[in-house]
Amino acid sequence: MGELDGRTALVTGGSRGIGRAVALRLATEGALVAVHYGGNGEAAAKTVARVAEAGGRAFAVQALFGERGAVDRLFDGLTAGLAEHGADGLDILVNNAGIHSIGSIGQLTEKDFERVLAINVSTPLFVIQRALPLLRDGGRIVNMGSAATRIAEPAQLAYTVSKAALASLGPSLANELGRRAITVNTVEPGVVLTDMIAGYAEIPGAVAALESITALGRIGQPEDVADVVGFLAGPQGRWVTGQTIDVSGGTYLGPITPG
Ligand SMILES: NC(=O)c1ccc[n+]([C@@H]2O[C@H](COP(=O)([O-])OP(=O)(O)OC[C@H]3O[C@@H](n4cnc5c(N)ncnc54)[C@H](OP(=O)(O)O)[C@@H]3O)[C@@H](O)[C@H]2O)c1
Repeated sequence: MGELDGRTALVTGGSRGIGRAVALRLATEGALVAVHYGGNGEAAAKTVARVAEAGGRAFAVQALFGERGAVDRLFDGLTAGLAEHGADGLDILVNNAGIHSIGSIGQLTEKDFERVLAINVSTPLFVIQRALPLLRDGGRIVNMGSAATRIAEPAQLAYTVSKAALASLGPSLANELGRRAITVNTVEPGVVLTDMIAGYAEIPGAVAALESITALGRIGQPEDVADVVGFLAGPQGRWVTGQTIDVSGGTYLGPITPG
């Protein structure tokens, strides 16, 4: 028996990286998982297959965020997929899909800024709005922020602003939804080895530099984040709401003095 048996989950951006690890984590605990993707159907199919290999249940749902009508398409696919699996309603929503953006104040264009806000903030917000009628009492919402919000990162200005805005949804929604025992939290990973940072990780010395400012001395893996999401999404996370949780292995806490 898994602790999420009989539950349903939607993981946006579940096809790759952190979202894939979250989908696997929730499915391994017994949840039926809707694996959302934007354009990489092959990656989504691979996630669904890996869930099945692990003895879980999942289905893929496509919707390219930033396009008009994407939230409608997401929920059409979600409700159809749930029905196909003899389920209805939603217990867990993980707003994970997001894009990175590089550019300092002098380089940023309005178009780029609007795109980052559309995909990283507006879409998750309206996904939550659309999910609420489906979300059962006792449900869970986890938003994927970034530890970049607490570190001065002039070259990631739009990204940092978008993730700070996303995290700011947490406390207000937690207050509104708490009487239904629905929790709302934000998880803030540090750098995690996924496709998103593959280019950065290839820069000679970049990973070593990150490790040198991280208390636990290594770069994050998707499962490091998925385990925290799994905790928040499961019964043991019932008393945590409205919080922003750093999941960075202690990146940039201050000067490191090896003992
Ligand atoms: N990796 C890090 O170091 C790091 C650190 C802090 C926070 N985060 C956050 O964690 C989340 C996941 O990051 P990741 O590193 O796992 O990213 P990733 O490997 O690049 O995967 C991104 C996921 O989001 C989906 N996605 C991207 N743009 C989309 C769009 N326009 N519409 C719909 N889906 C879209 C992708 O779908 P397709 O497969 O279809 O493209 C994919 O499933 C993001 O919100 C990111 O900001 C990452």
